[in-house]
Amino acid sequence: MRRRQLIKSTSMAALALIAQRARFVAANDVGLKDHFKDDFLVGTMLSNEILTEPDAKHQAIVTKDFNAITAENCMKWEGIQPSKGDFTWELADKFIEYGVANQINIVGHVLVWHSQTPDYVFNNWLGKPRSAKSLGEMMQKHIHALAGRYAGKIWAWDVVNEAVTDDGKWRESPWFKILGEDFIRLAFNTAREVDDKALLVYNDYNMHLPKKRDFIAAFTRYFKTSGMPIDAIGMQGHVGLDFPDFKELERSIIAYGKTGLKVHFTELDIDVLPAAWDYIGAEISTEFEYSDKLNPYVDGLPKDIEQKLTDRYREFFTLCLKHRDIIERVSLWGVHDGENWKNGFPVKGRTNYPLLFDRKLEPKPAYYELFKL
Ligand code: XIL
Repeated sequence: MRRRQLIKSTSMAALALIAQRARFVAANDVGLKDHFKDDFLVGTMLSNEILTEPDAKHQAIVTKDFNAITAENCMKWEGIQPSKGDFTWELADKFIEYGVANQINIVGHVLVWHSQTPDYVFNNWLGKPRSAKSLGEMMQKHIHALAGRYAGKIWAWDVVNEAVTDDGKWRESPWFKILGEDFIRLAFNTAREVDDKALLVYNDYNMHLPKKRDFIAAFTRYFKTSGMPIDAIGMQGHVGLDFPDFKELERSIIAYGKTGLKVHFTELDIDVLPAAWDYIGAEISTEFEYSDKLNPYVDGLPKDIEQKLTDRYREFFTLCLKHRDIIERVSLWGVHDGENWKNGFPVKGRTNYPLLFDRKLEPKPAYYELFKL
């Protein structure tokens, strides 16, 4: 009796060990991109820092786990054309080479945005707002130069970023003030003229908000029906542990899917820190004053918060799997916690833990959790 029990428990322990090992081996050999290969692409972004100083361990993760890369900053207007007609291609060229050499889908970010865009774009030499004609030409030249240089190599372009306010109106950006809503048509039409293959994406944050959702679903559907080339709606996906309610996010996925466009999650990260003044947006000019209270995990993430992060990642990807017919890509905003912008936004100098790898580039529990789905 005692012997039988012993054998039984030994073999159960052995089986458990084998199963655990199998999971470990599986998680070791198979990247996220393989695990979700029948569902959607899994992407990350490449920072200017990593393009300037490549890191072997970082690159090993990117090539194993991801099949899409987005340019974090190197293709933004202020980086690529800091003064009029003066293009600096070095980092963007490196970014493209990285994608081509490793056969990763390349996402260009971003052609037309109100942020990280130099003043000369909107104002003439007198400091006065440009005419519609002048601004329109400026945009077209920029798109021709940038999208033209990389045409044939880009899988998707974020064509217009953040043109809509949280309460569902056109954002009063210089683009809108000078060109009206036609700036969006001009941007997409020009991108298509220059690159007839890339998927063309409209990208924005807080995409779960009902008024914003309704407005974006309506305008993309209407613009598309009236002939504007657009292929996907990009939901940035800068979320937190407690916001947004994923039910609202799901309503948006469905509403955007109903327009006939695909949905891309373009910049996923999960903020674990207390929200400063309840701010949940991603308008990059926002800044709140630092306080220690807003930065509670300088010495490491407590177990219970780590668990919450893991649960939240599981819930997020479960939702994406449920809507895999609509969702074409889920991209994270970086590989590891140390390189994510949420350490500096909307409060500078915090220690955040929003991604799947820690600062030493080791996978976190959330990473392993995704392989169980
Ligand atoms: C962020 C970058 O990660 C930061 O390095 C930069 O200082 C500001 O912009 N929405 C976008 C991204 O579309 O381009 C932003 O990226 C984050 C919000």
